[in-house]
Formats: sequence, C-alpha cells, structure tokens
Amino acid sequence: MAACHELLFRLPFTTLVLITCFCAYRVLAHPLRHLSGPRLARISSLFRLRIVSSGYAPSRLASLHAQYGEVVVIGPNHVSVSSPEVLPIVYGPKPQYRKSAFYRVFDPVYRGRSLDTLFTTRDPVHHKQLRSSVAGRFSSSGIRHFEPAVTKAIDDFVTAMLPRLGRVIEVEHWLDCLTFDIATATTFGQPWGALKSPETSRAMFNGLRLGFRYGAIVGQIPGLHPWLLGSPVFLHTLNTLGISDPVSPLFTLIDEALDRYDQDAQNLENTVIGWLHKKGDHESLLKDRTDFVNQLFCFAVVGGNVSISLLTVLYCLVKHPRIYDRLKAEIKESGPRELRPLTYAEALNMPYLQAVLKEALRLYPPASLPFERITPISGLYIRGHFIPPRTVISTSPQLMHLNTEIYGLDANQFRPERWIDAQGDTERLQRMEKCFFAFGRGNRNCIGKSFAIMQMSIFLVTILAKFDVQWAGGEDEEWATSYSWVCEQTNIKLKFIHHST
Ligand code: HEM
Repeated sequence: MAACHELLFRLPFTTLVLITCFCAYRVLAHPLRHLSGPRLARISSLFRLRIVSSGYAPSRLASLHAQYGEVVVIGPNHVSVSSPEVLPIVYGPKPQYRKSAFYRVFDPVYRGRSLDTLFTTRDPVHHKQLRSSVAGRFSSSGIRHFEPAVTKAIDDFVTAMLPRLGRVIEVEHWLDCLTFDIATATTFGQPWGALKSPETSRAMFNGLRLGFRYGAIVGQIPGLHPWLLGSPVFLHTLNTLGISDPVSPLFTLIDEALDRYDQDAQNLENTVIGWLHKKGDHESLLKDRTDFVNQLFCFAVVGGNVSISLLTVLYCLVKHPRIYDRLKAEIKESGPRELRPLTYAEALNMPYLQAVLKEALRLYPPASLPFERITPISGLYIRGHFIPPRTVISTSPQLMHLNTEIYGLDANQFRPERWIDAQGDTERLQRMEKCFFAFGRGNRNCIGKSFAIMQMSIFLVTILAKFDVQWAGGEDEEWATSYSWVCEQTNIKLKFIHHST
C-alpha cells in the first residue's frame, strides 16, 4: 500500500521532470537552437496547430518573419524562410527536397487502401511515373483538346444565370458547380451536371471544404492522421454514425466511368481517362483498377482552386471600377463574342486580361499554407544560416507575393498594371515572375497551371462580354477571407446584370 502511495506521488513529479528536460533540450540543445523564433514553436507543433486553426496562418507567418527575420523556427523541426532565395533551391527542378509528411493527410482512402497520388506522393520515383503519364495532356498544347468542354460548361453557367440576373446569387456555389463540371467533363468525358442540378453536389463541396480544413490542421501533426481519416476503421465508424466520407461520391463516379469505358472508348480520346487507357510509357504504372482510380481522383477534385481564383478575380474587379472598365474595353476590342467563343491562344494575347488574372492570384493565392519540403542529407545554407538535414523547410505564396522589394511598396494593393509597367524593365519583370509562387515551382509545380489560366480567361471574357458584374453589398462592406489548405471566401455579395439593364 505504501509503495502504491509512493508511486502515485512520484508519477506526476517524474512526468514533470521529463517534460522539463524535454523542453529544455528543445530550447537549449536542439540542432535548430541557433535560429530565431518563438520559444513555444521550438517545443511543440501545437504552436503551428494553433496558428493554422485560427484561419489566418498566412498573415500570422508574415508577422513572425517581420519580428524574427527571414529564417524562423516555426516548429520543433520546421523552419520557415521568407527570402526569395529559397525558391530555386528548395522548389527546384530536381527532387532533392521531398514533400514532407504533411501531404499524407491528403491521401484519399479507396476501398480501405490509402492512395499515394500525384499531389501527395513523397516518393520521387513514383512521382515521376505519375506525372509523366499525364504531363502531355496538361501541356499548353495538350489542353487545347479541353477547350470545347470548357466552353460548353461556361455556356451552361450563362444559361443558369439568365433567370437569376439582377439578384444576389450564391456565386461561390455556382463557380464550384462550373469548375466541377469542367473537371469531370475533361477527366471522364461527361460533366457531373452540377450546373443543371446545383443541389446534388452541395454536400460534396461542403465535405471537400471540411477535408481541406482537416488536412491543414491535422497536417501539422501528421502522425495523428492514421488514427483519424487515414484509418478505415475510423471512416467506417463515421459512416455508421451517418457521417459519410465526402469523397465517396467521387469514387462512385470514377468507378462508373471506368466500368463504362469500353463502350465509350472512341469518344473519350481527348479526356484524361482516355489518355490513361492509351498504351504507352505509363502502361506499367497502371497495373490495376486502383492505379487508375488514383490518377483520376486527382484531376476530378482539383477544380476547387480554379473556382476560388475566379471568385477572387470577380471580387477584385467589382471593387476596382477603373480596372474593371479597362478590362471590359480590352474584351470589347478583342472582337464580338456572340458567334465564336474566345480560344486559349487568343486569351494569351490579351495582356490586360492576363495581368488581371496574375495580379489576383498574386494578392490572394488560393493555396497559401507553407509548402513543406525536407532538407536533403547535405542540409542547407541559406541567408547565413545552416539548416540541418531532414528538417522541414517551407515558404508560402503570400510570403513571396507581399515582398515589397520585389513587387513595390504597394505590394498589398490590387494593381494589374504592375505586370504591364514592368515589361519595360526586363530584370524587374524577371524578379517578379520568379517570385510568383501561386502555382508552386519546380518539379512539384502545378501541372494544371495552363489549364487553370485557360478556364479563367475564357470564363471572364465570356461573362464580361454578356453581363455586368456588380457588388451588391454596402459601399464599405468587404468580403472575408480565411485559410485552411485553401482560401475560404465569405460574405460575397455579387450579382450579374444584363448590359442593357
Ligand atoms: C488557379 C488554380 C490553381 C492553383 C492556384 C493551383 C495551385 C497549385 C499549387 C500551389 C501546387 C503545388 C502545391 C505544393 O507544392 O504543395 C499545385 C499542384 C498540383 N496541381 Fe494545381 N492549382 C490550380 C489548378 C489546378 C488544376 C486545374 C489542376 C488540374 C489539372 C491542378 C492539378 C494539380 C496537381 C495534380 C498538382 C500536383 C503536381 C505534382 O506534385 O507534380 N491544379 N497546384
């Protein structure tokens, strides 16, 4: 009995001593101790967890850099760098800096198996195989085949708006429907039909949004993921409680498309599914159904970033009438749009349109949590500091895009002209381009970049040629933005009106 009492007395004391020793080690003896940063960040990942859960991680990180400098410890084994020097090294063309465990929380689970997707994989060899199997389809010339599907979906969007002209619409949902119809049409040859029956997809979009929140938060302590949404048992338990996996309708869609493929093959040549079925270098990669599902899944869910970006552009335009008018003038000059929709090639020749898109993505990059990588065995010297091997190193688009030395003192303003003015100064333009990080960089950059620009260009030109877009809130009223893995925009009060009204 006495021994039991003694143990009960000693246990809290011993735990306290161990915790104190652990904290002292992390602050005083840890390999990152020579770098500056908040004390709590050195001790525990809870520091980042708190920042990310707040929804304001990008601005909180910027404040940390303003306080501690360009190289800051933001986790027990995590360093954030705000100097653009980090980009060509860490996000270079070669795969020395692998993605961190953060990305595994986004691995979807299909039939009890976790999928190592093109976006999430940490294995450079597997990544190369996955990427090369679709790279041609998403090149600037490859995406021309997607133009008819994009134009058709935008026409459907216009049709859906006609009875809603002059009313405040739930534009964020309609844009989600549009980009999801585009993503499914180009991946499987048939749109989901979200624009025709917008309610059918609402639960899934909400679920995906929750998934991004989950990923952003649990990704700060990725070891938790195998016990949560990474666990088939946990997923099954949620299911029995009536909470279904948000991505399960997507898997059903993919399964149906794969089952139908043989009957439709001749019509699917210009889709991702048709491309993957073609025998080629990637044949060995697609050994079974799960491998197909893995690749198709990635392209079916990524439309979200495009819809966030479209919402951003529309918001920026209605809040800046001078810029809006200048863009409309360029669209008018580009020719009548009633009979023939804009092509991607024509869109690239509209300098103001491209400057508007780029500026919106600069100021409000859809993904702006740190893009985490692991330092290689040699470690890294940067800005006079040594970062040891196997440290998580990261930077984020917002840290790059608000750099006043690169983008000017008005870097926090929406001013597309900065891209046009810089054309007279090649060196400056190059610096701006090199720092532009909305689509990532290097061997893990966004494979859908050109496709996204194509969708955004054709959408804006078509919509602004047909309608006027107006802010329907108070003059001083603004939207609200917060960040999970992607930007979430709320309080958007937009309406489309006919030119003649
Ligand atoms: C404006 C829209 C988009 C933005 C801002 C965007 C942004 C990004 C960023 C920042 C990354 C790199 C993330 C990282 O390093 O952690 C990425 C990767 C990726 N994106 Fe996009 N994206 C957009 C649209 C698309 C579209 C339309 C597709 C569909 C083809 C797509 C497919 C992918 C894939 C598959 C990856 C992983 C590539 C790899 O690791 O090799 N994205 N995207």
